[in-house]
Amino acid sequence: MTGAAANTTSGTPLDTPEYNIDRSARCPLDPAPAMRARQAEGPLVRVRLWDGTLAWLVTGWEEHRALMSDQRVSVDPFRPGAPKLSPGEVAAIDVLKKEGKRSTGTSFILMDDPEHARLRRMVTSAFTIKRVEALRPPTQRITDGLIDTMLAGPKPVDLVEALALPVPSLVISNLLGVPYDDHEFFQANSKTIINRETTAAERSAARGRLVDYLDGLLGEKLAQPREDLLSGLAERIKAGELAREDATEMGVLMLFAGHETTANMITLGTLALLQHPDQLALLRDTEDPKLIASAVDELLRYLTITHGGQRRVALADIEIAGQVIRAGEGVIPVNEIANRDPSVFPDPDRLDLRRDARRHVAFGFGVHQCLGQPLARMELQVVYPTLLRRIPTLALAADLAEIPFKHDGFVYGAYRLPVTW
Ligand code: HEM
Repeated sequence: MTGAAANTTSGTPLDTPEYNIDRSARCPLDPAPAMRARQAEGPLVRVRLWDGTLAWLVTGWEEHRALMSDQRVSVDPFRPGAPKLSPGEVAAIDVLKKEGKRSTGTSFILMDDPEHARLRRMVTSAFTIKRVEALRPPTQRITDGLIDTMLAGPKPVDLVEALALPVPSLVISNLLGVPYDDHEFFQANSKTIINRETTAAERSAARGRLVDYLDGLLGEKLAQPREDLLSGLAERIKAGELAREDATEMGVLMLFAGHETTANMITLGTLALLQHPDQLALLRDTEDPKLIASAVDELLRYLTITHGGQRRVALADIEIAGQVIRAGEGVIPVNEIANRDPSVFPDPDRLDLRRDARRHVAFGFGVHQCLGQPLARMELQVVYPTLLRRIPTLALAADLAEIPFKHDGFVYGAYRLPVTW
């Protein structure tokens, strides 16, 4: 590895390896071979991005946690040096800059403190143990209802369509306070946005409809508050603590941050269990909530669907792992590879539902660590055991090679998972 003095972004040496997240078709649930190769080189290595710029790839678990919780690291994509992973991302920021905007419209997930903390605090109460536990019985009912429908219909069935997408969609509707009658509209538009075949224009139109819808719903909550997240935000608007536009953006953030992520975990978790029948049997046959909780965390670690790297930029020189990250340099902490760090998770490529995986970084780390993690954990703790117990003969209805995995995008998953029983 090169010394600190040589580590500047100028010069972009051609022998610097490329940033590459392509997974192997034979092992679609394992991190990309190139990511593993970088990890073997060290916990902090340079990579060359698509436009020739260099960034620091963080492959070590310890360095990942240190940098993600370092105040000298920013998440703001407007800052010079913030890594962009495609021409589309550069263009999107350029458009916003030209319009004089200083925010991406994705609320606090891409903001630094103190504004990030101010907005995040306004929604934390929706994710307390008590509030999340209150959603467990409805989540169980939703899951059972969807499985009833699956069992009553023809097979094979696409698990994504039948279970993985509707569960988080219905749970988030519940959390936000979307009336039951609007579920179909809400789900149809969310699905359009997530669907691979959707064009950019269709996606933007569907997003616009959801933003308008959430804004209208906020208006209703302002007039008639209830016990839900949007009503909580409506109270803040009334108290003069929050602009209505910021409240709408937060609603949209909750919807998107908690939807496709949980859906992909349901899909890939089921696939991983089907590939490991001994582990599947362990989860299916237990009533022990501790084992179920540890199984969910191990699946989160093993699959780490938020793949390809979080994006950050250094605000000051940071000395770490014998290197110096200079102010203005891009930093890419890679969750999926930190979660396979053998110094923290022995035999990391083995799916072992009994291991203590709680130190994983599948939900990120530091101030931006996933706000919805108690909710996501609860949903997965309900869905996997229910599915396995109610359909004990569940099986894949396609070869692994036929499953369309989501290699593009920041959330790994599968577009379809045909199953039968
Ligand atoms: C298994 C499912 C999920 C996974 C793997 C996941 C993963 C993540 C990760 C890695 C981050 C950190 C992003 C960063 O540091 O840049 C994050 C942030 C976030 N997640 Fe999740 N998430 C999941 C489910 C949910 C759910 C159900 C919700 C809410 C309904 C949610 C809401 C959020 C929010 C609001 C943030 C931004 C936090 C902040 O910036 O302070 N997530 N999530």
